[in-house]
Amino acid sequence: MKKCILLSVLLILLPVPLIMAQGPDVVIPVPAEVSVNKGTYRFRSQPEMCLVKVSENAMPSESYRLEIHRRKGITITFSDSAGRDYALQTLNQMSSDGTIHELQCCEIYDYPRFPYRGLHVDVSRHFRSVDFLKKQIDAMAMFKMNRMHIHLTDAAGWRMQIDAYPRLTQFAAWRPQHTWKEWWAGDRHYAEEGSKGAYGGYYTKEEIRDLVSYARARHIEIIPEIEMPSHSEEVLAAYPELGCSGEAYRDSDFCVGNAEVFRFLETVLDEVMEVFPSEYIHIGGDEAGKQHWKNCPKCQKRMQEEGLKDVDELQSYMIRRMARYVESKGRKVIGWDEILDGGLAEGAAVMSWRGTEGGIAAMNMGHDVVMSPGRYCYLDHTQDAPFKEPQSIGGYLPLDTVYVYEPVEPSMPADKVHHLKGVQANLWAEYVVTDGHAEYMYWPRAIAIAETAWSLPENKDIKDFRRRVMPMLEFMRSKGYQTFDLENEYGEREYVTTGLDHMAKGCKVIYSKPVQQWYPAAGEKTFTDGVIGGWTYSDNRWQGFLSDIDVTVDLGVVKHVSYVGGTFMQLKGPGVFMPHKVDIYVSEDGTDFTHIAQVPNDVSVDDEDLIFRSFETTCDVDARYIRYHAARSLMRGFLFLDEIVVN
Ligand code: ACM
Repeated sequence: MKKCILLSVLLILLPVPLIMAQGPDVVIPVPAEVSVNKGTYRFRSQPEMCLVKVSENAMPSESYRLEIHRRKGITITFSDSAGRDYALQTLNQMSSDGTIHELQCCEIYDYPRFPYRGLHVDVSRHFRSVDFLKKQIDAMAMFKMNRMHIHLTDAAGWRMQIDAYPRLTQFAAWRPQHTWKEWWAGDRHYAEEGSKGAYGGYYTKEEIRDLVSYARARHIEIIPEIEMPSHSEEVLAAYPELGCSGEAYRDSDFCVGNAEVFRFLETVLDEVMEVFPSEYIHIGGDEAGKQHWKNCPKCQKRMQEEGLKDVDELQSYMIRRMARYVESKGRKVIGWDEILDGGLAEGAAVMSWRGTEGGIAAMNMGHDVVMSPGRYCYLDHTQDAPFKEPQSIGGYLPLDTVYVYEPVEPSMPADKVHHLKGVQANLWAEYVVTDGHAEYMYWPRAIAIAETAWSLPENKDIKDFRRRVMPMLEFMRSKGYQTFDLENEYGEREYVTTGLDHMAKGCKVIYSKPVQQWYPAAGEKTFTDGVIGGWTYSDNRWQGFLSDIDVTVDLGVVKHVSYVGGTFMQLKGPGVFMPHKVDIYVSEDGTDFTHIAQVPNDVSVDDEDLIFRSFETTCDVDARYIRYHAARSLMRGFLFLDEIVVN
């Protein structure tokens, strides 16, 4: 079917106004195939556009062909409405702002690499309005993202009207403190709806229907998440009989031995499926404590009756049972990768967040997988130098690291790769109080995920992406999005990208205390490999210890030494502290050591900021061996050191 119309008619239907630009080299995500032809297509007020719909088997779903011809104008060929509208999104990004009526002649054939291109919104920790969600949906559509995963339930508040259980929204959706941080530091109680100072909120079914249809018009499916069996403190405060103790404020996991729990969850999911028509229903499954199950008579009885050997299998029993229930309604479940523990429910899809191993294991078992590994996709981590950023959960995840993520790994068998359905950007909102802050954390990093999920890896290039994303951010800011200021990005710590040369580089280091197993960095090479640690201790450049650090650097031959120093970091939240003091000794023979310096700690253990401090000395000695002894903080916790610099 061929239909020629004026461009303006369609653009009015789209959420995205025209952007100032000329050709296909500005488009995000980068299209699959582009050929730029000679000349431009000029038009007076509106361009001439032909829409050609072909049969579904003639072109893949969501794909489009966009041709801009000097005389014939614009032709868009597509097989479904998503492909048609994605062509228009591409055109919008390439087109002028209405003052320059000129487009570069070109042909684009474009299609997504993955069918699932997701963005996650945590509305439990801080409630977000429907308008906020619609605004993010507009941005998602612009970058051809097609799944919004809404984390509707968690300890910090229940966020959806459930008619059968009104206390979820009359009580469990509200708390006395506005910020999650204050609430978490307090007694973590809830408040009656409408009580003085109660903070929170929830979506009515009418609002959800409106949101779902708004998203659907932009080819975005909304996937609701209802957490189970854990992250359920708010439910168990409202309905204490659903926990093992039967008391409010005691449990975080549902009691899996209690038949009433299954009635509750099935009823809730019925009401969820009534308003969310999504293919997948997310049932959480992460971070269950499972402790109370071990002593709960009902849980123990269930384990006995079902022949379950441990609490992992008890969790698996619950997930399988709920998966069967959801499937009986014609839907599928997806859950965090913990749903693998104790055996994965048939047909369940896995969202791999603790890394990619869980996802790969699930693919090998024939399950569909969405990758959202924390190392690349957790946008709650700080995106620039922490000293200039708002408080976050920690870590360091700049745009470039997000962008370089490659979801297909060499260890994935070729015949299983089709189970990798896509990629998702996650934003947990413990420290993200305002809407503006959430946008700041999403954009531009979520755009990088969009490109990873849509574009072919051979077309990706970080330098080119940065060139394309800068004007896009400017455009987004002009539309009221509070994006991160990429132009003024500070970047990594000094020497992280260049490395640091010094006299001890490559020298042997003798350890007298073991490294903590989670933070090995480069093993015994770490302190003399010239590799400097970045803004986070989890970047595998910092070596971690749960003891003193007591090491001796062997320079190989006696040399003149004028400087010895090492840098530590402090981050009180996760228990990373400065050493109490550092003692430095030198020796020519490795037996007789001379104490040349003691460096005391001057950083308060109460300081909550991320702090870096060198424990160093200048000297004027001849030595082959340098002993560097950092005494663990009186607070105990971790010590992290990246390099011992000797000059
Ligand atoms: C998660 O981050 N707990 C899924």
